[in-house]
Amino acid sequence: EVLPEIREQCKELMLSGHQIHQIMDRLLEDIKLGLGKESHAKAIVKCFVTYVQDLPNGKEQGKFLALDLGGTNFRVLIIELEGEKFHMDPKIYAIPQSIMLGSGIQLFDHIAECLANFMKEHQIAHLRLPLGFTFSFPLTQKGLTKGILERWTKGFNCSGCVGQDVVQLLKDALARRNDVQIDVCGILNDTTGTLMSCAWKNHNCRIGLIVGTGSNACYVEKVENAELFDGDTTKPYVLINTEWGAFGDNGRLDIVRTEYDREIDQYSINKGKQLFEKMISGMYMGELVRLVLVKFTKSNLLFGGRGSDLLFKRGNFFTKYVSEIESDKRGNYTNCRQVLEELGLNHATDQDCSNVRFICECVSRRAAHLVSAVVATLIDKMDEENVTVGIDGSVYRFHPRFHDLMVEKISELVKPGIKFDLMLSHDGSGRRAALVAAVATRER
Ligand code: BG6
Ligand code: GLC
Repeated sequence: EVLPEIREQCKELMLSGHQIHQIMDRLLEDIKLGLGKESHAKAIVKCFVTYVQDLPNGKEQGKFLALDLGGTNFRVLIIELEGEKFHMDPKIYAIPQSIMLGSGIQLFDHIAECLANFMKEHQIAHLRLPLGFTFSFPLTQKGLTKGILERWTKGFNCSGCVGQDVVQLLKDALARRNDVQIDVCGILNDTTGTLMSCAWKNHNCRIGLIVGTGSNACYVEKVENAELFDGDTTKPYVLINTEWGAFGDNGRLDIVRTEYDREIDQYSINKGKQLFEKMISGMYMGELVRLVLVKFTKSNLLFGGRGSDLLFKRGNFFTKYVSEIESDKRGNYTNCRQVLEELGLNHATDQDCSNVRFICECVSRRAAHLVSAVVATLIDKMDEENVTVGIDGSVYRFHPRFHDLMVEKISELVKPGIKFDLMLSHDGSGRRAALVAAVATRER
């Protein structure tokens, strides 16, 4: 059984209906500021226009390359599309932390090197193939193939890139090597890619959501509402990349932030930034749990007051632990004990395990409810009867109850009569980036 003191102290991690509605109202206001011509510059939730207006029609053909940077893995892929059929060959490359925090030149040289090696391995180094670039950071787009980096997020902070066109940075790096040729056809966010690939199968798909290392969503907006859009205004819709991870950076989430959220921010590489993302996403969820565990250990409520060096060290409680612990059947603590043993907490009792699980549930439920609030805000804003949300990211994918928690909460929050579906995106950003490249070549 969970200790009453722990239950009591975890109440601050539970969001009341009132708080959730406040969050929804504030987000909607912020989205409108992001979309507005006059207000965009100062807006916190940027709502970047994307220049993706055509969804795939399932008839795309040809060979395409794709890069996927910004999630857990950096991938290079080659994809062959033939109408409904496609063949995909991906390869994961590591990006060492020294590069994630180094110079932009080092980062793009590394990316170019991986791409060149990949093309040589696949014996396509002599071809000039179209390439779609999934680049999962905030960009001001100046067209489908030009994107100015606004800020780094998550674990990246490379010098000399903010304010630059990242497509150009990639081209420059390839020119420095001068051994392969590519034709960049589109740069897109992972949320955009998720929406694209789900829309390929499901025509009601109107939102692309990521709950992974970071958290963000894009949605289909009427062209007339996207005041900054200067693309083809004869088409009715444009995709908006909300970059809602930054929601709260001006204090508007302080109504729900806790001491743990403040500490996460304090020790992050982007202090004061991405405050909403820091309450939700995989890069932070495990650490949030760890901070709660540390607090309760120090106040003698857990582990007989005896922690471990591993528990007390930042970053040691991985987000996948939360999914593992919550995957135990009720009353069974197999995974929980294994995790605690990995942290040197062999002396945990059943009571401790039950408390630890409860704490994980509080943190992950709060994340699911926050995501639900913002998804419901977008669904309501679109005002359609039937909306499918395409979703990717390790938290949504691997957490045993995230999907159900979201379905339950969103049902409570959306306007009566609206139907929605949450659909896991199966094939990563690779095929999506290829689809964008393909749609772009189709349009040409
Ligand atoms: C992958 C996509 O499937 O999911 C990436 O290919 C995306 O583009 C990623 O960024 C998000 O999840 P995570 O958990 O890897 O950050
Ligand atoms: C961060 C990035 C955003 C991306 C999200 C999910 O919030 O800023 O662009 O979509 O992570 O990967």
